[in-house]
Amino acid sequence: MFMQKTLSLIKPDATERNITGSINIRFEQAGLRIIAQKRLWLTKTQSEQFYKIHKERAFYDSLCEYMSSGPIVAQILYGKNAVAKNREIMGATNPANAEIGTVRRDFGQSIERNTVHGSDSFENAEIEISFFFSLLEIIE
Ligand code: CMP
Repeated sequence: MFMQKTLSLIKPDATERNITGSINIRFEQAGLRIIAQKRLWLTKTQSEQFYKIHKERAFYDSLCEYMSSGPIVAQILYGKNAVAKNREIMGATNPANAEIGTVRRDFGQSIERNTVHGSDSFENAEIEISFFFSLLEIIE
């Protein structure tokens, strides 16, 4: 177990329903610390850049359209094994398959409107954090 940072996005379906606080409580109760956080509204081009790894997937255009349809909250979560811990808190990508008590199971509306994104590896966490945050904004 070692201390890590991971990128979390609270998606437009959650900001629309005013449930970002209910989600943040889940992170804090699980022992993760929100060490940076900001609300922003991505353009479609910015969404396409962030999700470029999925460029060839059938859902890419719809995903990027959705991610730029309203405000998101970008945040850095910090704690022991933060990448894996956050994935545990989020649950499976498809809310229908996610464990009871996970964020996606409790709040997700569909595989696309699945409420949160979290980095899937330590390496991608570094890349995704630097997409949204500068060093000056990260206070450990
Ligand atoms: P996220 O963890 O943000 O990573 C990529 C996103 O693409 C995923 O959550 C979902 O929102 C979306 N996604 C993944 N698979 C599908 C799918 N089969 N259909 C629609 N959207 C998907």
